[in-house]
This record gives sequence, C-alpha cells and structure tokens, in this order.
Amino acid sequence: MDAIAVTRDDRTPRVVDLPRPDPGPGEALVRTLRVGVDGTDHEVIAGGHGGFPADDDHLVLGHEAVGVVDDPNGTDLDAGDVVVPTVRRRPNGANDYFERGEPDMAPGGQYHERGIEGAHGFMAEYFTSPAEFLVEIPDALADRDFLVEPASISEKAFEHAYAARSAFDWQPESALVLGNGSLGLLTLAMLEADDRFERTYCLGRRDRPDPTIDLVEALGATYVDSRETPVPEIPDAHEPVDFVYEATGYAKHAFETVDALAPNGVGALLGVPEEWAFEVDGGRLHRELVLENKALVGSVNSGVDHFEAAVDTLQSLPEWLFDDLVTGVYDLDEFDRAFVDDETTIKTAVQFDSR
Ligand code: NAP
Ligand code: BGC
Ligand code: ZN
Repeated sequence: MDAIAVTRDDRTPRVVDLPRPDPGPGEALVRTLRVGVDGTDHEVIAGGHGGFPADDDHLVLGHEAVGVVDDPNGTDLDAGDVVVPTVRRRPNGANDYFERGEPDMAPGGQYHERGIEGAHGFMAEYFTSPAEFLVEIPDALADRDFLVEPASISEKAFEHAYAARSAFDWQPESALVLGNGSLGLLTLAMLEADDRFERTYCLGRRDRPDPTIDLVEALGATYVDSRETPVPEIPDAHEPVDFVYEATGYAKHAFETVDALAPNGVGALLGVPEEWAFEVDGGRLHRELVLENKALVGSVNSGVDHFEAAVDTLQSLPEWLFDDLVTGVYDLDEFDRAFVDDETTIKTAVQFDSR
C-alpha cells in the first residue's frame, strides 16, 4: 500500500510502498479517508519535534485522520463505521495513564504518538488501531471530519483552563488567540461559538491582504498585529482579556500572556517552541500571577471525551468557515501540495479514499 513517510536520511515527505497492516487482537483495520496537516507535522518533518519508531528508518506521517472500518476483527465496531483515531498509544505494555483512560496526561517516555513520536502515523491507505482508540463519528460531519483531532486539542485546553477558574464565579467576556495558524483560527471559531465571549482578538504578524486576517474578521474578531502591538501592550491598545489561548509556539508569548490577562484571567499554552533563552522580569510576572489571581495552564494532546466534544462542536460551526479554513485537500498523486506552508495556506489534508 502507499504511505507518506520521511526517512532518517531524507526528511522530505515521499510516497513509500509498505505492506498492508494486519490487525492484532483487539485491533480493527481502517481504510484511510483523509489526513490533515498541522504545524506539528512541519516540526516533525524539520526534525524539531518527535522521533522515529525505534526499529525503523522511516516514520509514516500524519496524526489528524479519519477512516472507515474495513475489518472490525471481532471488536465492537462494524464494517463501514466512520472513525477518527486518537493519537497516543502505549509504548511498552500497560501504564497507569492509559489504564485510567487519560493517556493525554502521561509524561514523556510513557506514550508514543502516532505520526509524531515513536510510532507510525495514519498517512497510509490502511492503518490498524486498538478499537478503544477509535472514536465513531456521524456522517453529518462530512468534509470537516479530519478536524476532529485538532478541535479535540482545544476542547481539552478549554476544559483544563476553565477548571482553573471553577472555584469562583468567573464571568469571562473577552478572549485572545495568539496565532493565526490552523489551530489558532479553528480555536477562534470555537470561542466565537461560545456565547460567553463578547469580544475576541487574534494575534498574527501578517500584512493585508491576507486570508487569515480575512477569516479573523469574518468571524467577528479583531486582528492584532504583533509587530505593531506586542502582546504586553494589548491591555492598553484594546483591553485586558479574560482568556488567552496561545497557539504560536513563540516562547516569549508564554510569559507575555500574563501581561495580557485581566485580573482573575487564565491563559492556556499550547505551542511547542524550540529552546530559546531570553530575559524576563520574573519578579513582576510572579507578582502579577499572585496578586491578580491569574493562572497559566499548559495543555497537550487530548482523550476520547475531548474527541467526542469536538464532534459536537464542529457540527455547530457554520459551513462557510470550513470553506475558508480548508485551503486544499489533495489526492495522493499531488500530496506534496498539502505540505506547502506559505501565506495562502491555512489548513490542508491528503485524501486517500472516499466513503
Ligand atoms: P502554525 O500553522 O505554525 O501556526 C502558528 C502561527 O503563529 C503562524 O500563523 C504564525 O504566523 C503565528 N506566529 C508565530 N509567531 C508569531 C508572533 N511572534 N506574532 C504573531 N504571530 C506569530 O501551527 P498550528 O498548527 O496552528 O499550531 C500552533 C502551535 O501549537 C504549534 O507550535 C504546534 O506545535 C502547537 N500544537 C500543540 C498542540 C498541543 O497538543 N499542545 C496541538 C497542536 C498544535 P506566520 O504564519 O505569519 O509565521
Ligand atoms: C497533536 C497532539 C500531540 C502534540 C504534541 C499535536 O499537534 O495534535 O496530539 O500530543 O502535537 O506532540
Ligand atoms: Zn496536531
């Protein structure tokens, strides 16, 4: 079967020929429909994040998949079910995080991530997965189905951030998304759908005309250019915000989020930066966090419950959003276009097959 992979000595994604996998006990065989591409894939391709399976010289890419059950292989699934796989897998036998149903909370070394860290991804005509990691999705999701995984990332981040404000009567009105990549824009749409946020902002570093700025404004949010208004100046230029969602991977933003927050606000940090040493006024940030009851929450990956919440949320978002957000879905014979990362590209996917 055809698969899209990088090798240890050539990090350019290419089509490789691999045997169709056989499902083991408890696993189903899935025929792949589509697999999305995000900033993490670009970081994996560049070698800045993730790693190869220990015994292989190649890594099949892709972690944002949707497929059709081809062989349920004795699991509770039925042939023809449309499923989205979660990303994390047990590395070596059982561990407590997986047994509790919380693999997204496992520390480094206690998980593999398919297509990212130590395990092959889903960019292949077929993949196998334990049934416990396959989330059934309704036909109604249609072409937005491959966005379940990225939307689940934000469902988890919201849950954890809002939980940090659950001990008092938190009444947020404003939200700021840092980053106008595919995760930031999808999340901005999710926040727009949350009636509590009356005013929303999205940070980028692009000149107009730009399709991401158009999308920010079509969603009813205010575009903030970080070159003109650095994050710590957002409270003066606009307002201190109740909720910040960081999706730039720009390390200074983790600390600058504290300055952007209103008293009692919370920031969710999602970006995965490279190492970067810089100076911060630690005393001031520490004081702000304490005296203004601010919180920062890091969040990575997501679990089955977050995938299920994402299915509901995606169905509530308007059709035009997906027309604007998804800038290209490419067949295998032009798969490399899905990996182009320029200013006309927002969200792309590789199409392997149809329902
Ligand atoms: P992406 O497409 O690379 O988006 C990042 C965006 O941030 C880009 O549009 C970039 O603008 C913008 N940006 C970067 N630095 C900026 C700055 N100083 N000022 C203004 N804008 C800035 O990546 P993505 O797929 O949306 O993901 C976003 C981040 O989240 C990545 O770091 C990714 O690794 C991480 N992520 C984490 C999780 C998790 O579970 N925690 C899940 C998914 C993704 P330009 O395009 O103009 O350069
Ligand atoms: C994926 C997550 C993963 C994270 C860190 C994200 O792009 O969507 O599932 O945990 O990267 O590798
Ligand atoms: Zn991702």
